[in-house]
Amino acid sequence: MSDNLTETSTTRPSFFRNWISLSGLTIMVASIFAFVLLFVLDTFSHSSNPYVGILTYLIAPGFLMIGFFTFVIGAILWRRKATQTTGSTPIRIDLSKPRDRRLLIGFIAGSLVFLLFTAVGSYHSYHYTESVQFCGEACHGVMKPEMVTYQHSPHARVACAECHIGKGAGWYVRSKLSGTYQVYAVLAKKFPTPIPTPVKNLRPAQETCEECHWPKKFVGNVERTFNYFLTDKENSPYSIRMLLKVGGGDSTHGPVGGIHWHMNVGNKIEYIAVDDARQSIPWVRMTDPQGVVREFRDSKTTNDLSRFAVRRMDCMDCHNRPAHRYQSPENAVNLAISLGKLDRTLPYIKTNAISVLVQKYNDDAAATQGIATTLLNKYGDEPRVRTAIETVQKIYSDNFFPDMKANWRAYPDNIGHKDWLGCFRCHDGKHVTSDRTLSIKANDCDACHTIIAQGKGKELEQLSLGQKFKHPEEDYDPAYMCSDCHNGGL
Ligand code: HEC
Ligand code: HEC
Ligand code: HEC
Ligand code: HEC
Ligand code: HEC
Ligand code: HEC
Repeated sequence: MSDNLTETSTTRPSFFRNWISLSGLTIMVASIFAFVLLFVLDTFSHSSNPYVGILTYLIAPGFLMIGFFTFVIGAILWRRKATQTTGSTPIRIDLSKPRDRRLLIGFIAGSLVFLLFTAVGSYHSYHYTESVQFCGEACHGVMKPEMVTYQHSPHARVACAECHIGKGAGWYVRSKLSGTYQVYAVLAKKFPTPIPTPVKNLRPAQETCEECHWPKKFVGNVERTFNYFLTDKENSPYSIRMLLKVGGGDSTHGPVGGIHWHMNVGNKIEYIAVDDARQSIPWVRMTDPQGVVREFRDSKTTNDLSRFAVRRMDCMDCHNRPAHRYQSPENAVNLAISLGKLDRTLPYIKTNAISVLVQKYNDDAAATQGIATTLLNKYGDEPRVRTAIETVQKIYSDNFFPDMKANWRAYPDNIGHKDWLGCFRCHDGKHVTSDRTLSIKANDCDACHTIIAQGKGKELEQLSLGQKFKHPEEDYDPAYMCSDCHNGGL
């Protein structure tokens, strides 16, 4: 009677009492534990991260399923064995037996160690997905252009996630979805080259840039010296020193005025761009702090603007390359000559260096080879030519990424107006109010900066405020935009 009782009470529910099923159970418990831990970490961390979503919502549940199947398979196997060999019994733990005690202690200790590793492991994977290394390197070269240019930017110490993801619950889900899609896109090789900008789901600048940069801070005038070398045989130097009137917008911190005051703190500026890259802007609306609204329209535009979205201007409309600066060959070569890395006494080195850089190469190896061959043919084998070749090759590998078709051409830089329209997308003198009062005239060169010195040698020592711009090439026609002739290459 008592035998029968134990028989029935053990056989039916105890299919699961075997070591395989118990291991499955442990895996299940561990993955639930990891899920809860990751979920809590992600919810309370100051910046959330889409890839943690993959760990939390894909990998942890995946292990849960594996655990579950192990659990069930253990039971099935055991049942089959039990029906074949009648003598077999489910695990019966009898704590009075030393063997059973050892087995049980071993099993519990093993499970605890496993749980501990799961916890530590989840925590580390969590941090790993937040790291620059993960964002920049995990995708095998897809992010190489961004990673390399980022390392040469003023933000090289700011983690990718700080700008691209940031904090806040609303963006949490959105970035999670897009992050998961991106991983899929990389695995399926379904990503565009070059990666298009503006980045559609970048968070608003107020929530990223303004976490570190205080927009009301008064910047004052920023002095910039631009060192150029002309394309003549002597590679003649030409420099321009100017004060950029960045200014500020809060009277408790300095005089109010300048580029930042107008664009950000005091005023609200909205615009419509008719192209994806936001380079063509036929309509602008400004609302000043008193609520007075003014609309400017490009006098030539005939587009029906109602089908385009209105965007509010923020930091990113001027500073759109804070972290990924693909230097133009022109700027990179000017810098290299001014630092002495390219010997200025090599005739036409400026032109020749730019011209080897702008060639189309299929990959990095072809570029390295092509640059060396062309320059060796032009100048012969000399130590200073060798240095020049190394310098140009370095410029190429830092700024050109043939695999991803990423280089300065693919990414307009909106901060100035020489190689791209930049500020002149709106400040071109063609945007007028209905009563035809202009916004800033393009030839009002002192609205944004004041030239304090220009030219070469002795000329640069004559400092004076508000000099008229002397274009180094005589036959320059102010009716054209700078970017009609200048494009950063040749
Ligand atoms: C200082 C803020 C900042 C940091 C740090 C940063 N980015 Fe960006 N990133 C931007 C901005 C701004 C854009 C351009 C947005 C636009 O034009 O719409 C951008 C663009 C991109 C693009 C689109 C293609 C391109 O080259 O413009 C990718 C991909 C990218 N970032 C990846 C990364 C990776 C990977 C890291 C870390 C290694 C990183 N970013 C760090 C601000 C940042
Ligand atoms: C996590 C903090 C952080 C975030 C977020 C951040 N920055 Fe910065 N930014 C810095 C630091 C640090 C510097 C370097 C300051 C220095 O060296 O003078 C800097 C420098 C700059 C500079 C001056 C660069 C130069 O050429 O000298 C600009 C412009 C700038 N940031 C714009 C931005 C924009 C636009 C964004 C948003 C996309 C942004 N920053 C987001 C920390 C940040
Ligand atoms: C009609 C075409 C044209 C226009 C418009 C034009 N430039 Fe130039 N620019 C040239 C040429 C040609 C050179 C001489 C290149 C050389 O010898 O290196 C030059 C040289 C320069 C240089 C010296 C070094 C160099 O090659 O970059 C600067 C700086 C410059 N221009 C700035 C400007 C600015 C700023 C504007 C707009 C206000 C402008 N240019 C408009 C054609 C033009
Ligand atoms: C209308 C265009 C415009 C907008 C919008 C704008 N800036 Fe600037 N900012 C500039 C220019 C031009 C400079 C001068 C330096 C340069 O040319 O790189 C500058 C300089 C800076 C500097 C560097 C100051 C220094 O001491 O070198 C920082 C930091 C900066 N801006 C942050 C921001 C932030 C943050 C926002 C958004 C709240 C913003 N800017 C919006 C045009 C703009
Ligand atoms: C989306 C269009 C747009 C872009 C791009 C733009 N601005 Fe403006 N900006 C405006 C409007 C609109 C005004 C107000 C004009 C007015 O009040 O007459 C303005 C005013 C200004 C003023 C104040 C001028 C004054 O009358 O005192 C400065 C300085 C300025 N912008 C600098 C810049 C700089 C520098 C850039 C490029 C880095 C730039 N802006 C890019 C639309 C733009
Ligand atoms: C709407 C504001 C604005 C107006 C108007 C303006 N500039 Fe500029 N300019 C800038 C800014 C901003 C930069 C700085 C770009 C940078 O930091 O790289 C700049 C840079 C320059 C440079 C250095 C070029 C470079 O990028 O290598 C020259 C030269 C120049 N401006 C000449 C002129 C002349 C000439 C005019 C009148 C036809 C003019 N600017 C009108 C905003 C303006």
